[in-house]
Amino acid sequence: MSRRKFYITTPIYYVNDQPHIGHTYTTVVADALARFKRMCGQEVYFLTGTDEHGQKIERAAQAKGLQPKELADQVVERFKALWGTLGISHDDFIRTTEDRHRRGVEKLYQKIEAKGDVYKDKYAGWYCTSCESFYPENQIVDGKCPDQGHKVEWTEEESYFFRLSKYQDALLKHYRAHPDFIFPETRKNEVTAFVESGLKDLSVSRSSFSWGIPFPDDPKHVMYVWFDALANYITALGYGSDRKLFARFWPADIHLVGKDILRFHAVYWPAFLMSADEPLPKRIVAHGWWLRDAAKISKSKGGIVDVFPLIRDFGVDPLRYFLLRDMAFGQDSNYSDEAFVDRVNADLANDLGNLISRTLKMIEDYCGGTIPKTDTRFREDEPIKKAAREAWTGAVKGFDALDFAGALARIWEFVGHLNRFIVQNEPWKLSQDPGRRWALDSVLYTVAEGLRIVAILIAPAMPRSASELWRKLGVSSDVTAASLEHFAWGELKPGKTIQRGEALFPRIDKAAYLKGAATAKEASMSEATAPPPGVPAAPRTVPAPVPAAGPAEVGIDDFAKIELRTARVVAAERVQGADKLLKLTVDIGSETRTIVAGIAAKYAPETLVGKTIVVVANLKPAKLRGVVSQGMLLAASDASGQPFILTTEEPVPPGWRVK
Ligand code: MSP
Repeated sequence: MSRRKFYITTPIYYVNDQPHIGHTYTTVVADALARFKRMCGQEVYFLTGTDEHGQKIERAAQAKGLQPKELADQVVERFKALWGTLGISHDDFIRTTEDRHRRGVEKLYQKIEAKGDVYKDKYAGWYCTSCESFYPENQIVDGKCPDQGHKVEWTEEESYFFRLSKYQDALLKHYRAHPDFIFPETRKNEVTAFVESGLKDLSVSRSSFSWGIPFPDDPKHVMYVWFDALANYITALGYGSDRKLFARFWPADIHLVGKDILRFHAVYWPAFLMSADEPLPKRIVAHGWWLRDAAKISKSKGGIVDVFPLIRDFGVDPLRYFLLRDMAFGQDSNYSDEAFVDRVNADLANDLGNLISRTLKMIEDYCGGTIPKTDTRFREDEPIKKAAREAWTGAVKGFDALDFAGALARIWEFVGHLNRFIVQNEPWKLSQDPGRRWALDSVLYTVAEGLRIVAILIAPAMPRSASELWRKLGVSSDVTAASLEHFAWGELKPGKTIQRGEALFPRIDKAAYLKGAATAKEASMSEATAPPPGVPAAPRTVPAPVPAAGPAEVGIDDFAKIELRTARVVAAERVQGADKLLKLTVDIGSETRTIVAGIAAKYAPETLVGKTIVVVANLKPAKLRGVVSQGMLLAASDASGQPFILTTEEPVPPGWRVK
C-alpha cells in the first residue's frame, strides 16, 4: 500500500535583509509538523525558499550598491545557514530567480491568459512596497497601508490585470464547501468578509521597474511579485516540466503562513489556480505574530530579534522548544528575553534536564551503568504506563491539530509524573536494602523507559536533544525514525550501557543574560557543565605556559578584547597589482565586510567562496593597496610562511564567537 503523502510549505522569504525570529518561527513550526508526519509514516515533501524579485528587493539592493541578484545571493546564504543550523528538514529550497521557477510561472500565466482572464489597462492607485501590495484609496490611513502601517506611494502605470472579480462567488463557495480550507476559524471569517465585501481585478504586472520575470509576450512588463512568488509552491514540484513530482504531491496539504499574508494565499492564489484549472491546496494555515513591545517584530519596522545570538549562546533546541511552547498557535505572542530564559530554565534545565541527569546518575551508581530489569512483582509502574499512554495520545492529537504548545504541555505533564514517581519511590532508600534490589531496578527501569518515550515525543520539536537522549540511554537506533503510530511500553533493552555524559540542557544564568552583557553570558557558558547541543564547547583547558622567548603572557581579559568570529566567504578576487593579496567579501553574521589577506600564493579565489573562516572582527580598518580591510583572517603558517587558513570542523553559521 502506498503511503499517504503530505506536502507542506513555508512562505518564501524576502531577501531584502537578514532572517529574524518571525521567519524562524514559521520554519520551525513547518519543520516540527513535517517531522511529526514522517514519524506518523507519511511520505512528506517539505518546501521552503526565498522570494527574490520585486521592487522591495530592487530598492534594498540599490541602497547597498549591489545588483538585486548579488544581494539575493548573499542573503540566501544566511537563510540556508540558519535553516541548516536549526536542523530544518526541508526536501527542497526554491529561489524565485531560478530557471525552473521562471518556466513554471510562464506556464501558469499562459494558462490563465488562455482562459481569457488577463487584460491590459492602466493602474492608478496606492502601492505599498514593503507589503508589495496595492491598496484602494478608502483603506489608506494617514498615507499608510492598512495592514502594517507602512508608507504607500501613488503609482500610475500600464498594467496587466487578472479578472479576480470573476472568482468571487467561486471562492466563497469553496470556503463554504471546505470548512477546513482556512485555519484558524477567526481568520477564515476575516477572509470570507473580505471577499464578500467585493473583489476588484488585480494588477499582475509592473512596468515601472525591471527586477522580475518578464511577461512572455511583453517584456516591458514584469510579473507582479506575488503572482511570481505564490507560484513557487508548484514550480518547485516541476510544474511545467516534471509532471511526476507535481502529480505526486500537488495539491499541498498545508501552506503555512503568517496572518499578514493570508489574503494572498487564501484569495489570490486559489483564484489563480481556479483560472488555470489546477486543484486548490487543501489548507491554508495562518499563525500569529511575535511581537515586541506590542509591535510586530519585522525587518521593516526594526526591533528585530536576531536568532543567531540566541542559538550561539543557548543552542538550537532551547530556541525551537521556546518558539513552539510559548505561542498559542494562531495567536500573537510577546517575545521577551525573560520569558525565553524562564521557559528554558523551568522546562528544559529543571524538569527534563534534571530528570535525565539524576536518573542516569542513579543507574550509574546503583546499576553499574547498565539499564536494569523490571520485576513482575513491581506494580507501582502501572500509573506511569497509563500516564505515558495518555501523554502519547495527547501529544499526537496536539501536533495533529497544530496545537504545539498543547502537545508539549502534555509531554511535560508526563515528565512531571516521572519526577514525582522518583520522589515517591525513593530509590536512594531502596539502594540501602539488598532485599529490595528488585524494586530499585524496577523503579529505575520505569523512569528510563519513560525517558525513552519522552525522547520519541519531543523528536518533532527537538530532534537533536531527542537523539542525544536515546544515545544516553544506550539506544542505538535513530529516534527521528521511530514511529508515532503505535504506543508500546517496555522496548528499552535491559543490559545496555548508558552514556551519562554532560547535562543535556544547562541552566541559563538569568541575571547575566538579562544584563545583556555579552561577556558575562559567555563566561557563564564556559562554566556550565556542557554547552547546549549545536554550540561549540567553550575552551576549558588552561592556556599552555608561554615559552620564555615568546610573546609576553596575556591575561584572559586581554584575550577577550579580541573579537574572533566565524565568517562565511561570500566572494573573493585578486587585488590588482598585488601578487600576494586577495580581497574577500565575508559575512560575519551581523554584516558583510571586506578583508584583504596575503594568501593569494596558496589559494585561488574561487576555492574560498562558501568556506567558513575565522576573522578578527574588531581590528582597526587598514588600507592595503588602496583597499580598506575591515578585519583579518586567521591562518597558521609553516616555516616558509605558507598560510593554512583556519576553518571549523563542522559547518557553523557566520557570526559565532570563537574563543
Ligand atoms: N515573500 C513573502 C511571502 C511569499 S509566499 C509566496 C513574505 N516574506 S517575508 O519574509 O516578509 O515573511 C515571511 C513570513 O514570515 C510570513 O509568513 C510572515 O508572517 C512571517 N513573519 C514575519 N515577521 C513575523 C513575526 N514578527 N512573527 C511571526 N511571523 C512573522 O511575506
